[in-house]
Amino acid sequence: MSISAAEIPDMSVLEAIGTRRAIRYFDPDKKVEDWKLQTVLQAGRLASCQGNINATEAIVVQKETCDIWDELEECVSGFNVQIINQCSHIVFWLTNLNAWYGRANDGLSTLALSGALTKYHGWNYEFTMTQTVPRLMSFPTERTEILLRFESGQAVGQAMLAATSLGLGNILLAFGRKPGGVEKAFGLPPNMKFTWAHAIGYPLEDMNAGGQRVRLKYEKLFHKDSFGTPLLPDPAVDAALREKNMLQAQAPLPGRFEQIDQLADRFGREPGVVSWPEKEVKRLINDDDWDFGPAIKARAEQVVAQGNLPDYPEEMRETFKKLMEEHGLDTSKYLS
Ligand SMILES: Cc1cc2nc3c(=O)[nH]c(=O)nc-3n(C[C@H](O)[C@H](O)[C@H](O)COP(=O)(O)O)c2cc1C
Repeated sequence: MSISAAEIPDMSVLEAIGTRRAIRYFDPDKKVEDWKLQTVLQAGRLASCQGNINATEAIVVQKETCDIWDELEECVSGFNVQIINQCSHIVFWLTNLNAWYGRANDGLSTLALSGALTKYHGWNYEFTMTQTVPRLMSFPTERTEILLRFESGQAVGQAMLAATSLGLGNILLAFGRKPGGVEKAFGLPPNMKFTWAHAIGYPLEDMNAGGQRVRLKYEKLFHKDSFGTPLLPDPAVDAALREKNMLQAQAPLPGRFEQIDQLADRFGREPGVVSWPEKEVKRLINDDDWDFGPAIKARAEQVVAQGNLPDYPEEMRETFKKLMEEHGLDTSKYLS
């Protein structure tokens, strides 16, 4: 079925950013329309990419039509198996390292023809061809890979926002059970790196997935002029962003846990959520780095009051200490 422009919803970018969640429950009986998939992929295609080299590609897979489904399923991490089997499509995002070596010249040329590369900024053809392009093309593949995977991340992020704006659920999924397995299943050449799998479908859980997930505080992430000087948010701006639906009610929203259990019951899966030990929950909820609002604080209290929580695995304490100390982290904060 095709679509007319008038039928495409107009969610604002800010609202799509605020509405996006990792969706983990999909309606197995509802397929995503071709036009929506096309829109999602177009969003990826239009993402910014260095030198216009177009390094990000994708394979769109549907369980019902894919001959190598079983092989792919063997590669997905265990906690993602249900998701791949119930979503509508999986987009396997790929990063083409050869775009860097093979398309830098043409990519820059397209930018010049488009009126993007100008003399104003000091671009000139001779310098580009004798210095810039050969320098870029002499990068080892490891460096190119870091640069281009970042770019694929941009494309995927943009695609997910487009999907959200069309009422679709998204989640990125690790396929780490069989390293190299996805590349092998698709027969990818060595320059084509499998970057991430992206499940798309109609959510069975509420689109808000129980509320916006808590993040670290703004001022703990952003710095002003120098590293370590907090950049403070303006509360009035945050209030306006709340009105625009970018900042939304924090998880968990009322009814979230009941919904999870209903879904588990419907598909014959185990109900409930995972819990951390009492001491760990209390330590975390009092950690000032996190932007904990009243809903998640109340949930933490409820979890502690309910009891029946697991014990901290004391036999792992030394391992965690060693792993953190290797990175110069203050273990007393986490391992008191
Ligand atoms: C690169 C990447 C890989 C992820 N892999 C998984 C995954 O394998 N399984 C899963 O359930 N969630 C996965 N997620 C989802 C994150 O856990 C999720 O984004 C996080 O819980 C924050 O919640 P939100 O996306 O709903 O805001 C992944 C997210 C990213 C960005």
